[in-house]
Amino acid sequence: MTIVEPLDDLQVCVLAAGKGKRMCSSLPKVLHPVLGRAMLDYILHTVEELQPKGIALVTGHASDQVQAHVGNPANLSWVIQDKQLGTGHAVRQCEAVINDVRDVLIVCGDTPLLRSATLRHLVAAHRRSDAGITVLTAFPPSPQGYGRIVRDGAGAITRIVEQRDADGAEQQIAEVSTGIYCVRFDTLFTLLHRVENHNAQHEYYLPDIVPIGLKEGIKVASAAMEDPSEMLGINNRAQLAEAERAMQQRIIHDWQLQGVTIEQPESVRIEHAVRIGSDTTIHAGSQLLGSTTIGDGCEIGPYAIIDHGWIDDQVKVLPFSHIDHASVGEQATVGPFARLRPEAKLADSVHIGNFVEVKKSIVGSGSKINHLSYVGDSIIGEACNIGAGTITCNYDGANKHQTTIGDRVFIGSDTKLIAPVTVGDDATVGAGSILTKDVRKGGLTLSARPEQRHLPHWQRPRKQHKG
Ligand code: UD1
Ligand code: CA
Repeated sequence: MTIVEPLDDLQVCVLAAGKGKRMCSSLPKVLHPVLGRAMLDYILHTVEELQPKGIALVTGHASDQVQAHVGNPANLSWVIQDKQLGTGHAVRQCEAVINDVRDVLIVCGDTPLLRSATLRHLVAAHRRSDAGITVLTAFPPSPQGYGRIVRDGAGAITRIVEQRDADGAEQQIAEVSTGIYCVRFDTLFTLLHRVENHNAQHEYYLPDIVPIGLKEGIKVASAAMEDPSEMLGINNRAQLAEAERAMQQRIIHDWQLQGVTIEQPESVRIEHAVRIGSDTTIHAGSQLLGSTTIGDGCEIGPYAIIDHGWIDDQVKVLPFSHIDHASVGEQATVGPFARLRPEAKLADSVHIGNFVEVKKSIVGSGSKINHLSYVGDSIIGEACNIGAGTITCNYDGANKHQTTIGDRVFIGSDTKLIAPVTVGDDATVGAGSILTKDVRKGGLTLSARPEQRHLPHWQRPRKQHKG
């Protein structure tokens, strides 16, 4: 692991007060998830990696929701921007909480793909050139929507013009502002107080510190972002999907380098908090969601969905299975077409077959439930065989009741266990039984069966031919 130096002569300002009008959402923009994690959490984690002296987080729109989400990290100061009058105005609100540092790093809350190494590169370039303001710029595939970097004949930045204020020629400029700046603390707020709102949106634009600074004789420099995918700012749901795609490629690439085979990667969803062991194969169309953890040497899918699942080593989750808040022990097999609901806990070497639903139940080591069953609120021992079509009748319309099955039990097909009911170790239950009483250890237990009759002279009805 590389040891990185803390940037303790730096405070970071994260702008997250905007409503995100273009998202058309009741959820504040920065709380929208990208692969299961709020975009604000990405950016906070990225800036924390710099180990700065402090982080000022500017919120405004639905700030109570944002505060409830973020909690109270040690070095974070909350800054409320009551009216969203622009990015320059937002940074100005931080004046009371930022002090006594060399530089202020300003980032936006809506760029989750940003990497901390890129920010370190910006701060290093800023300090090397001894500039007052350093702008992080990029050449994205399309500059549409971003502020354009205007340079003079000698190549020096003169100003940044927003999309809405740009004339035809300026709109042709390919170099854009990432919205990320490193600014000397001793000049930042003086400049911000001079920013005015004479522009298309009547907002106080942070980028206007560039021309104002130049007029004051302050040195303005720029640093380039190597990978423009990092700057993708999410303003609408189309960009949200674009950011998810880019983040997904990154996450999948990381797992591939750690020994995970991913078939048709573009068809697979692996959320941010998922963990996967080596020599595991994720087959096409599978989705690993939430805090799902998968062990070594597993086969997942095709088309399996695992949400907050815990899967041990050498497990097979066969096609079209759905695992939700459930755990699977090593060498177990699940599916195809199986459903594990919350609190299903399978021990090692369990087999769960097609069209089997397990809810809030423990299934002991080596037990098999292979076909068409419902098992709920149950404890099943080791080495049991639960026949096709077995149902635990756990619900009486008002309350749920427990089924307990011992070790080495054989339950014949199409048995109904009317809970509460207990089946002793080594019991065998005949096919088609309806169990309303506890079953003793060993031996054979079966319900009375309707008599089987044979009618030798019976004939099949024949098709009647009309006319
Ligand atoms: C901004 C930049 C643009 C840059 C782009 C990069 C300005 C005026 N424009 O444009 O040059 O190319 O980012 O993505 O700076 N915010 C506040 N308070 C406000 C307004 C905004 O906190 O009053 C926050 C928003 O929540 C958001 C960030 O600032 O996180 C950027 O605002 P946004 O409206 O997304 O600006 P862009 O139009 O993307
Ligand atoms: Ca934006």
